[in-house]
Amino acid sequence: MVVDDVTTTALALWTGVLREAGDRRVSVALSGGSTPLEMFSRLGAPDMRSQWPWEQLVLFWGDERPVPPDHPDSNYGAARERWLAQVPLPTRQIYPWPTQAAPEEAARQYAATLTTVLGPEPVFDLVWLGVGPEGHTASLFPGSAALSADALAAAPFVAVKDTVRLTLTPRVFNLSRRVVFLARGEDKREIVRRAFAEPDAGLPVQSIQPAADPWWILDRAAAADLPAFPRFE
Ligand code: 6PG
Repeated sequence: MVVDDVTTTALALWTGVLREAGDRRVSVALSGGSTPLEMFSRLGAPDMRSQWPWEQLVLFWGDERPVPPDHPDSNYGAARERWLAQVPLPTRQIYPWPTQAAPEEAARQYAATLTTVLGPEPVFDLVWLGVGPEGHTASLFPGSAALSADALAAAPFVAVKDTVRLTLTPRVFNLSRRVVFLARGEDKREIVRRAFAEPDAGLPVQSIQPAADPWWILDRAAAADLPAFPRFE
């Protein structure tokens, strides 16, 4: 969907997923990067704080950088600073990557945590993802072995970033009940066009194929080359 304000629409989607869940637990995987930062800040605002069934929510991260939580690159740190530190979500329901461990061990531990909390075939109720200019999502980059890994989590070396990253694999994302991509801005225009117009491009973002088609929340700039997309004016 094409909207004026992706964050406002994302918040409405959160509300819908929570309402749909009734009193059932809601498991969510958050994305990193800059796009969701405004959403985290809005979720941490006083008006949102009182509305949420905090006891139902369990949070994971679709990917992480191998840095401590207080490092500026930490995806968990970004969500904690803007949102989690402002709300009464019990820490026992928040599952950051164990970045104190070596990357491969962190991936092994995180996969074990996933299966302990969500079951042997872990199904998220809601997964937030972004997309990078070359079509990566989470920390699944073009050519990565993690794209075809049978494991639930991996620690691939990402040449374009010259670092190891920690990421869940398509196997996990594709088990999810609802996957939502957030993308906005002119710099996402071309990759969004390719993601839709070039189905055989083999982009990592195209490896995310859950049973329920992913939703895309886009602003006009990112969706500029998607003529057939429904537009919510
Ligand atoms: C990360 C993210 C990554 C991100 C895209 C888009 O850890 O960086 O998980 O996949 O979603 O790179 O990033 P922006 O939102 O900053 O454009």
